[in-house]
Amino acid sequence: MRAVVYDRYGPPDVLRLEEVERPAPREDELLLKIHATAVTRADCATREANRRSGLLVTLISRSISGIRRPRQRILGSEMAGVVEAIGSAVRNFAVGDHVFGSTGFRFGAYAEFICIRENARIAHKPAGISFEEAAAVCDGGLNALWCLRLADLGKGQRILIYGASGAIGSAGVQLAKYFGAEVTAVCSTKNLELMGALGADRVIDYTQEDFTRNGQTYDVIFDAVGKHSFRRSKGSLRTGGKYLATDGLRNLILALWTSRFGDKKVMFSIPPRYTQQDVVLLKELIEAGDFRAVIDRSYPLQDIVEAARYVETEQKTGNVVLTVRGRET
Ligand SMILES: NC(=O)c1ccc[n+]([C@@H]2O[C@H](COP(=O)([O-])OP(=O)(O)OC[C@H]3O[C@@H](n4cnc5c(N)ncnc54)[C@H](OP(=O)(O)O)[C@@H]3O)[C@@H](O)[C@H]2O)c1
Repeated sequence: MRAVVYDRYGPPDVLRLEEVERPAPREDELLLKIHATAVTRADCATREANRRSGLLVTLISRSISGIRRPRQRILGSEMAGVVEAIGSAVRNFAVGDHVFGSTGFRFGAYAEFICIRENARIAHKPAGISFEEAAAVCDGGLNALWCLRLADLGKGQRILIYGASGAIGSAGVQLAKYFGAEVTAVCSTKNLELMGALGADRVIDYTQEDFTRNGQTYDVIFDAVGKHSFRRSKGSLRTGGKYLATDGLRNLILALWTSRFGDKKVMFSIPPRYTQQDVVLLKELIEAGDFRAVIDRSYPLQDIVEAARYVETEQKTGNVVLTVRGRET
């Protein structure tokens, strides 16, 4: 089968298309013929061993992914496709089923086929959406769900989402509305309209207005893009308010510190623990019309280097998808 592989950490050019052996499913696994996958910020960070986050994070990253070279040669955690074969113990999926989901840090989805356990983070693809749309659901969807649950976001609470137009942010806006919160989305001018379409109650263009200076306060501030800080947001949090982080070693330390001291908390928990039920919830929300993945660009698998370069600009709106097979639903 064709797969995108890499043998050393580095820039997008280390990725190349190669013929590799097609995997065979174990008894509790299904073999999925992948039609679409997504290029995520986590893929890019892993590929370069988190070089941009400093030496300590690079060392942690290499100790997980392989000290000298990556142990898992195939990146890609998101996928949507068709079940090609099943192991003898598989009960809930059958050959021909349309499935989507995420392998998380096991990766392996930049390929034509992948084996995945039937109790992994997968679900039947919602009717009426394409494989491309389905492949774009879980990166932002699962991350945002994990974060919002961490903050115990509830009905009537006020949340501000910074970086609301990224993969996590665009999912966060929709899920926060689903949880009954009052949502203020912060993004740049080009994404204002999208925020309204996703259901935000208020939108702030950060090129025109600094939310930390407008006198408004929130129960939760969700930095969905890792570009703000607890220190700068603190004054806009109500007493007992929570700052939700998605990135940055300093936030782990702040989470520990604020769990004991102060009346405003930093919430950051890695690695996130997603379940199959979370993927099923996203499927149900899509079917109910309460959630959709935002797709910025789509590339064929062979254009992986170009796709990764674009994701690394940190300017994608929502998700970037790779089409592995045809586009039929
Ligand atoms: N904790 C985890 O498990 C985990 C997993 C995956 C990713 N992450 C992290 O989560 C973060 C978000 O990932 P993502 O894929 O959702 O991001 P993304 O899609 O790459 O975010 C891109 C968007 O961020 C906005 N943006 C860029 N620079 C900004 C700035 N300086 N200030 C405000 N907004 C800015 C841009 O929109 P506008 O033009 O509208 O501002 C752009 O559309 C990343 O830091 C990533 O490393 C964490």
